[in-house]
Amino acid sequence: MADPFYITTAIAYPNGKPHIGHAYEAIAADVIARHQRSEGRNVRFQTGTDEHGLKMAQKARDLGITPRALCDEMSGHFRSMCDALNISYDVFQRTTDEAHYKASQAIWQAMEANGDLYLDRYEGWYSVRDEAFYDESELVAGEGGEKLSPQGTPVEWTVEESWFFRLSAYQEPLLAHYAANPDFISPESRRNEVVKFVEGGLRDLSISRTSFDWGVPVPGSPGHVMYVWVDALTNYLTGLGYPEKTPEMETWWPADIHLIGKDIVRFHTVYWPAFLMSARLALPRQVFGHGFLLHRGEKMSKSLGNVVDPLELAETFGVDSLRYFLMREVSFGHDGSYSAEAIVTRCNAELANSFGNLAQRSLSMIFKNMGGILKADLPVSEADEALLGTVAESIAAMREAFTALDFSAGLDAWMRGVFACNAYVDEQAPWALRKTDPARMEAVLMTLLRVTRDLALAVRPVVPTAIDRLLDQMGIVAEARDYAALADKNWLADLATKGFTLSQPAGVFPRLEALVGGEG
Ligand code: MF3
Repeated sequence: MADPFYITTAIAYPNGKPHIGHAYEAIAADVIARHQRSEGRNVRFQTGTDEHGLKMAQKARDLGITPRALCDEMSGHFRSMCDALNISYDVFQRTTDEAHYKASQAIWQAMEANGDLYLDRYEGWYSVRDEAFYDESELVAGEGGEKLSPQGTPVEWTVEESWFFRLSAYQEPLLAHYAANPDFISPESRRNEVVKFVEGGLRDLSISRTSFDWGVPVPGSPGHVMYVWVDALTNYLTGLGYPEKTPEMETWWPADIHLIGKDIVRFHTVYWPAFLMSARLALPRQVFGHGFLLHRGEKMSKSLGNVVDPLELAETFGVDSLRYFLMREVSFGHDGSYSAEAIVTRCNAELANSFGNLAQRSLSMIFKNMGGILKADLPVSEADEALLGTVAESIAAMREAFTALDFSAGLDAWMRGVFACNAYVDEQAPWALRKTDPARMEAVLMTLLRVTRDLALAVRPVVPTAIDRLLDQMGIVAEARDYAALADKNWLADLATKGFTLSQPAGVFPRLEALVGGEG
């Protein structure tokens, strides 16, 4: 199939309900997926839940339920969050699915066949919270002098029989891969950290556990379950039908991008590519580690009481507003901060007052002053040409920035187009032309219709619901809402010929109210 594009999010541990960080990653991945679909790519988008490991087992035990019951309930919340936020995933992969056991065991056997696995005894530090092994040298001291992982989580001394993966053998191949593929690890700051870590030498990795049984059984090794990251990472293949040579595997592997948080870059850029090399599978083209979302500059935590349910935010401000805010406000790859006021201020200024007002004013004037009738063959002035050119440039810049995953710069470029339109409306003053030069007024309004449609198509990946409501009102059919439609110069003539007329328009970007006395 033409131009495949495979994007994945990390799969979350469903040991609690999703928080805003999960929503942020899902939204960013969705914007990428929708952008690439608009670019004409054949997109496959996968997300899911990571359901094995000690953390899940312990949580279930604390709640007095089985791990499976915990997973079934909580995985559902993650899926509902995706649905509520308009996340256009193709596959929601759960790691407790039968097919996933098969895939994980197959990659295990492929690594074993390559001579990379051996049985030994693990003795070292483990963080259940991170589901990660740490070297003594990586640990830091807590406030009471206790040992903590570099992420600040508790660690426990662990001794057990374990299968090992010969990670040490992959130091050179990994470094060679990073050098030959400069975009493999992004952004660059993360790349430098990983290169430094690998240059420091790699120890073989413990990849099975014997002290509990909530995991994928190791083939041919009773009593061993796989280390949760081995099965978790394999989810990216499971969803494509691995180990079968399915058309999906043929089309979409290797993935174009694994979008993940900056805290799990090592798993994705050291362990995962080493597993894939060992199993003789192609490596993903890019791993992108995004930053964390802070609330008013502070980390969210239960003890600070500032953990916000993303669905509540979406309900308060609207899904599109939340999506727009996150993509616009956070420089992608860096940490970002949010607050209710910041959402309200940003969305009111840009969506309601700037673009929403442009669209609403333009459509209403056409409805009122032209009876909603569209005209394609009116004379075009220099000012009209200039505006069309400025908008086309702003959209081209936006598309380029989105492809490069620089969403805030992309939306900045889009806003330049919107501002140019609003300046044009003020200069041309079509309401005044109504009396003095009605023919010119019609030409101005048709120019506004064109630029409104183009700017709407461009921003659709970010705010799909509102834009679809706008395009519905404009008579733009579903098949003509991708970027290819931007190059169609006859759309207005075609609509006019069909006799389409605008009805009384309804605004699609309402002004948000600041939460008076709210928590925010
Ligand atoms: N569950 C892991 C975490 O929340 C992420 C796993 S992503 C994977 O840190 F796909 F690699 F498994």
